[in-house]
Amino acid sequence: MDSPHPTGIGLGLRSAFIEQIDGGEADGAVAFLEVSPENYLWRGGRAVDQLARIRDRFPLLGHGLGMNLGGVDPLDDRFFAELRRFLDAHPTPWYSDHLCMCHRGAEFHDLLPVPFSSESAVRVASRIREAADRVERPMLFENISYYLALGESAMDEPEFIAEILERADCGLLLDVNNAYVNAQNHGFDPYAWLERIPLERVRQLHIAGHEAWDERTLIDTHGASVKEEVQAMMAWVVERIGPVPVLLERDNHIPPLADLLAEVAELDAIYQAAIGRWRGDAEVAAVGGARHG
Ligand SMILES: [Fe+2]
Repeated sequence: MDSPHPTGIGLGLRSAFIEQIDGGEADGAVAFLEVSPENYLWRGGRAVDQLARIRDRFPLLGHGLGMNLGGVDPLDDRFFAELRRFLDAHPTPWYSDHLCMCHRGAEFHDLLPVPFSSESAVRVASRIREAADRVERPMLFENISYYLALGESAMDEPEFIAEILERADCGLLLDVNNAYVNAQNHGFDPYAWLERIPLERVRQLHIAGHEAWDERTLIDTHGASVKEEVQAMMAWVVERIGPVPVLLERDNHIPPLADLLAEVAELDAIYQAAIGRWRGDAEVAAVGGARHG
């Protein structure tokens, strides 16, 4: 199904401000809204009606939590049937979920990492292909923040991500805050990490705020505004890949909508400057190419 393919800074739709979005308070201020179907599946009522109106005014991107792409249980038929119904009613150019295990018989209340191995990559990639067939849309997976490594890793995370992208032939939802938090907590250089990610596969970015747990540990709380270091990583990626949708995630300590929209505007200025550098580089490359035949 064709649906708008937004670029620029968008906002994750949350119940804390859906009323105001429905009332028009974000019109013209965000490029798109990201919606998590799990908040609406098997439900009726006010929020579902509000979303039906909102989808006619904003491009939507669908982003979920429940596919269990890293898991080992078979994909859940009941969940996928309901998700498919939701996506048919709320068009989105692709669908994304996390590179994690979120249930095994019972629900875990966190996104758990998957061991970085070829064996996992084969399993996850075949689940992503199956998920894309079931929702009949391209799939993206998102790199998560993790606080412990599972087992002995046969490869590192960029290698693992690259292998899944290749095997599943899918896109990447690159969460630059997750990469930054992991880099600080596990002691690696986030830019060296980014350099090894196949950026040509990136279809969307996530950006969010984190908070310090103690001197050594950052937690990906989505409970603060985006730190400058993470804004800079977003700009670094955008100036290399060009126009892309960038989603501001905020899940805790949600401020008034006006404050979030001010942050969207601040991020947009950084994004537009990065697009300007990307354009400049593209023009320089075109002139260079012409000169050298
Ligand atoms: Fe994210």
